[in-house]
Amino acid sequence: MPTTRITRLTESDWEQFAELRLRALTDTFGTADKQYLVEARFTPADWRRRLRDHAQFMVVLAGQPVGMVAAYQESAETAYVYSLWLDPAARGRGLGRRLVAAALDWARRRGVHTVTLRMAAGNAAARRVYESLGFTEVPTGGGAGEVVMRLTLR
Ligand SMILES: CC(C)(COP(=O)(O)OP(=O)(O)OC[C@H]1O[C@@H](n2cnc3c(N)ncnc32)[C@H](O)[C@@H]1OP(=O)(O)O)[C@@H](O)C(=O)NCCC(=O)NCCS
Repeated sequence: MPTTRITRLTESDWEQFAELRLRALTDTFGTADKQYLVEARFTPADWRRRLRDHAQFMVVLAGQPVGMVAAYQESAETAYVYSLWLDPAARGRGLGRRLVAAALDWARRRGVHTVTLRMAAGNAAARRVYESLGFTEVPTGGGAGEVVMRLTLR
């Protein structure tokens, strides 16, 4: 069984973060996507700022970075989780759940009570990950084709 490790990235990891984030955007939306085109032009300072402003967690499988999730604190009691992604070859091992659990631990330690996120309504694997951690859908919380999920931390 290859070893897995989840770490929170710091500013000095910006190159690794940039590589992983652009891989995630490419895999999910393609290189013609607006967000990809914006972030592909990020400077080192932009990547460092992202790492300062938001908590970024990376999962390493057998020594290789294979996935990530991000979170930020919106207010004293609320946090937002976004950008969950795993390399297709690393899916099906429960790593998505472990990544989100790391973000929830971070939020809990900061005194957060409520965590929200958005996902595509038809994303069964993501829904399963979030629901297994206790998230429930907020009725009519999202836009077209999107749902909002919420979790109260204990
Ligand atoms: C969402 C994602 C991170 C989940 O990866 P993962 O942790 O490897 O997910 P798994 O393949 O282990 O699946 C998680 C659960 O969903 C189930 N599942 C997977 N695909 C499913 C499907 N099409 N229908 C129903 N259930 C499904 C799995 O059986 C598993 O259930 P279990 O925990 O009860 O065993 C990964 O699919 C991914 O990176 N997708 C692309 C990016 C994305 O959609 N991110 C989410 C944005 S909100």
